[in-house]
Amino acid sequence: MNHIDTFDFMSSEQSARIETVLQEERIFKPSQFVAKEATITGLDQYQQMIASAKADPDSFWGKAALAELHWFKPFDSVLDWSNPPFAKWFDGGTTNVTYNCLDRHILNGKGEKTAIIWEGEPGDVRRITYKQLFDEVCKTANALKDLGIKKGDLVALYMPMVPEAAISMLACARIGAPHSVVFGGFSSEALRDRLNDGQAKVVITADGGFRKDKIISLKDAVDSALANKSCPSVESVLVVKRTNENISFVPGRDYWWHELINSKSNKCEAEHMESEDRLFVLYTSGSTGKPKGVVHTTAGYNLWAHLTFKWIFDVQENEVYWCTADVGWITGHSYIVYGPLSNGSTTFMYEGVPRPSNPGAFWEIIQKHKINIFYTAPTAIRAFMKSGRGIPDQYDLSSLRLLGTVGEPINPEAWIWYREVIGQGNCPVVDTWWQTETGGVMISPIPNAVSTKPGSATLPLPGIEVDIVNAAGESVQTDQGGYLVIKRPWPGMMRTVHGNSKRFRETYWEYLKPKNGKFIYFAGDGARRDNDGYYWIMGRVDDVINVSGHRLGTMEIESALVSHASVAEAAVVGKPDELRGESIVAFVTLEADKQFSDNLLEILKSHVVKEIGAIARPEEIRFTNALPKTRSGKIMRRLLRSLAAGEDVKGDTSTLEDKNVLDELRS
Ligand code: WT7
Repeated sequence: MNHIDTFDFMSSEQSARIETVLQEERIFKPSQFVAKEATITGLDQYQQMIASAKADPDSFWGKAALAELHWFKPFDSVLDWSNPPFAKWFDGGTTNVTYNCLDRHILNGKGEKTAIIWEGEPGDVRRITYKQLFDEVCKTANALKDLGIKKGDLVALYMPMVPEAAISMLACARIGAPHSVVFGGFSSEALRDRLNDGQAKVVITADGGFRKDKIISLKDAVDSALANKSCPSVESVLVVKRTNENISFVPGRDYWWHELINSKSNKCEAEHMESEDRLFVLYTSGSTGKPKGVVHTTAGYNLWAHLTFKWIFDVQENEVYWCTADVGWITGHSYIVYGPLSNGSTTFMYEGVPRPSNPGAFWEIIQKHKINIFYTAPTAIRAFMKSGRGIPDQYDLSSLRLLGTVGEPINPEAWIWYREVIGQGNCPVVDTWWQTETGGVMISPIPNAVSTKPGSATLPLPGIEVDIVNAAGESVQTDQGGYLVIKRPWPGMMRTVHGNSKRFRETYWEYLKPKNGKFIYFAGDGARRDNDGYYWIMGRVDDVINVSGHRLGTMEIESALVSHASVAEAAVVGKPDELRGESIVAFVTLEADKQFSDNLLEILKSHVVKEIGAIARPEEIRFTNALPKTRSGKIMRRLLRSLAAGEDVKGDTSTLEDKNVLDELRS
């Protein structure tokens, strides 16, 4: 076996993953892929694209932008990188994302084609053509204008997975109002923070949403977030009727969607947007502080969502594509809404999730709607694997042609199971690596061109320059672990952190400083590159944890815990979890007058749910009299990670201030 240089940052779980994947020798050739009119037909064309993007990136991206997008006014320059890390793409041009997603398809005679097929959790189905979607988007845009929304005003969405979520996003884009979608599973406290950070003027929500045989009260959460004038920027709330729950209405502030929108005109010209005008803000967790508002702009993001969707999924004219994400995450933005619609494809949206009362939900949908391309998360695949192939085997999955995964590293066993059981051995699996910050996929196989290896995201897409470096920013050798970085700007890159350009610069571009002074983008992941140049992602190397593909900052959870009156100090770490990738373990010390108890443990777990949302609920809370700290007062998380994983604490503990703490924690 090769020599493996593991960094200090890698957990034993990550090192174990390196060991496993190094032994992974199975290769699946691209010839097994069947698409009638593929965009990238094979290895030759793919290599040519890689070569021309490398030789002259500006010309590569410029040509793509002209070929793939409609421009009201063409751009003057492709990339302006004169003030790094602040990029300007396609400066001087004007376009509108909804023109690319709607108008141009209708003008091309595709008005009657189905844009969205939607199935609700209770089984209700809606099919929306491109022309109908256009009408709904225009009506909604006009309603937003009537509520006083102007170009540049922020509109927040806090919605279930209903077509109105996509319609609202597009309506905002139509009139140049950036949207900020807040996942419906976040609590009202988390919503309030995001509304205030973005200074949202309107909130679009629903009376409720169906989730796992239960109803979630979205409107109540909005009401609590806005209570006592705690979000002064919010002027109106638009409410979609979904569950028919009794909700309270504030006159003059709250409006029913159907009352406000149905009567509006279906004519609304697309606002001519500058390339760098904001399209949306989307909050994501980092290792420090509150979640940051990742800013994406119009043309570059549109191009990247469009191109990556086309290259990777290559949806054919009569095919149906389904991504199981929620629109509250970047995957939903890029690969339920913008990527598919910009390409004129049919995108399937599902309100439900598999649950004990319906474990075959996904397979039933694939059979019923003849899904051809299916994109989901490794955590879901591992859960299906655990409940056995007996469930999927009851369904006809023969419509499937291509399978994708995203969100976390996939273990080779789950990859093979996905390919064999769900793909029946003849669908390629594309493991796509990317982030909220990258706007779209960065590392992924191209089905017709690139051989796949189970557990590897394979190769960077054309025009994307990736490397693995050490802490000094120097490239490391083949098979050595290091930091995953991106070495040149790309159209879909985030432009800044909303309201905090300093944080943008420091977190992503100055974390690693190569000696040549160049700006390289630090992704926050550890990775390794093999002999064939294939990338194997090891997971986060910062204080971000990934629970079922949901990204959470340990510090956010710690702040939630210490905001409880009983808690003095808290340290949160991820613990390897077979199904969810990681689970949350919190070490907590209490205020002097407080007692440890099982009751308090449950109270604290619920407190975190109230502060952040159910996805942040700690799996375990361990009470302790003290946390392990260095002499300078820094919590030694490495020790806590080992303890949480039930491993022996290895490595240097000489900097530990009080050795007794470790003994106490062990017991
Ligand atoms: C983090 C980004 C991008 C959409 C979903 C998550 C992890 C993402 C993979 C993959 C290994 C992956 C990384 C990344 N991740 N895809 N294919 N293999 N890890 O977006 O919430 O911004 O999280 O998810 O750790 O940094 P996100």
